[in-house]
Amino acid sequence: MLSGNLQPYTYTPSTYRLKYCCDLDKDVLSSNFEKRGWTNVNQDEDWNFYWASVFTVKTLFNSLECHYRLNDYQVINHFPNHYELTRKDLMVKNIKRYRKELAKEGNPITERDENGAFKYLDFIPATYMMPVDYNLFAEDFKRDPNTTWIMKPSAKAQGKGIFLINKISQIKKWTKDKWSGISAPLGREGYVISKYIDNPLLIGGKKFDLRIYILVTSYRPLKCYWYRLGFARFCTVKYTSSANDIDNMFVHLTNVSYQKQSDDYNSIHGGKWTIENLKLYLESTRGKEITDKLFDDIAWIIVHSLKAVSSVIVNDKHCFECYGYDIIIDDNMKPWLIEVNASPSLSSTTSSDRIMKFKLISDIINIVIPNGEIPDVRNYNKQPSREALGNFDLLYDEELATQELPDDEFKRQKIKGGIVPIISKNIKDFKAKQSVTWR
Ligand SMILES: Nc1ncnc2c1ncn2[C@@H]1O[C@H](COP(=O)(O)OP(=O)(O)O)[C@@H](O)[C@H]1O
Ligand SMILES: [Mg+2]
Repeated sequence: MLSGNLQPYTYTPSTYRLKYCCDLDKDVLSSNFEKRGWTNVNQDEDWNFYWASVFTVKTLFNSLECHYRLNDYQVINHFPNHYELTRKDLMVKNIKRYRKELAKEGNPITERDENGAFKYLDFIPATYMMPVDYNLFAEDFKRDPNTTWIMKPSAKAQGKGIFLINKISQIKKWTKDKWSGISAPLGREGYVISKYIDNPLLIGGKKFDLRIYILVTSYRPLKCYWYRLGFARFCTVKYTSSANDIDNMFVHLTNVSYQKQSDDYNSIHGGKWTIENLKLYLESTRGKEITDKLFDDIAWIIVHSLKAVSSVIVNDKHCFECYGYDIIIDDNMKPWLIEVNASPSLSSTTSSDRIMKFKLISDIINIVIPNGEIPDVRNYNKQPSREALGNFDLLYDEELATQELPDDEFKRQKIKGGIVPIISKNIKDFKAKQSVTWR
């Protein structure tokens, strides 16, 4: 399927046109490739850059030995087993395992509060796999019968198949014995059930969540970038936690693909706010300190979610991935990780949405294809210049974080370009946190 040609390229940089392959029909992708003058080839040819669907990547890496046949000059947009992070059930499983491992090592970030909740790592709502964890869920439900829960198919997207419940009888058919088996029988998909965040932060009375793009170029050591032009996605109708509206998904699901179907959908702003505007709003209503802390906390949970899977992801050096994080902020200004998408939507709902997504792809390419030259994965992890980062900031560089750099060196590197570690506004605090917490 893939080219077996192991011969190195002979090319003159000025004349060589990169060969790309793409199996997603999205304007923001094709216009980026065309703008660069790249040549479109098909999968059987000797491509340099492949923007593939998750399905293609699965078949590509599953076909025997293929992955050993990728050449140094080829890069692709997914890690082979990205689903360890991007499937709802596996993400939760990995985060739970990660917390357990850290606790076993006696890591101070696994400290718990007086109620037994993690002080620093409590960032996913309580979640159970269905039907495997039905009994555990039932016990939890009984402890607090007034709670609302949300049932979600583990591997679906765009709000499909999601519903809320507040009575255990509503999910009786998920009891383990009715499934006669440990995992979901063939033809029936697994679900996760999560505690519903019923106190979301509201703006104009409406619920919203954040879509944040994170580019990962390596898992071991972890290297990831935060895209500044994320956005908040609003529901079209006012939020209510009333039981009468439990079935009205326009109240509860922030997915644009879902909200678009509402009569109240506004196609001019598309129900979106840029994160920059959201920040300004929060700074003016809640104050700068609280807003900064909120975004530091979001960065913290993103890095830990990536650390949680870094030992299980196949760290293939040909791969990079741009994830779409879904984060909900509650009315205590606490962020919650809802899910991580492997293929965040590249459809554009408004013209500014299109511009933002075009830039996103452009900035990704500038990082993973340095200087527009033929990629060479042997030096793939070089630090891009500040210019090449575009709207990305370095979120976490494990290699750098584990080095003991004097403050002056941090500053120097920052000025030189590109080194903007998380919590960049207070490097000292970041370093202090890091020295006790980051492995
Ligand atoms: N635990 C939760 N509490 C509150 N809202 C949630 C919760 N889980 C999901 N949602 C809402 O439902 C939407 C869809 O859920 P998500 O897990 O992202 O599934 P999908 O893959 O269908 O997008 C989220 O964007 C959010 O608005
Ligand atoms: Mg989602």
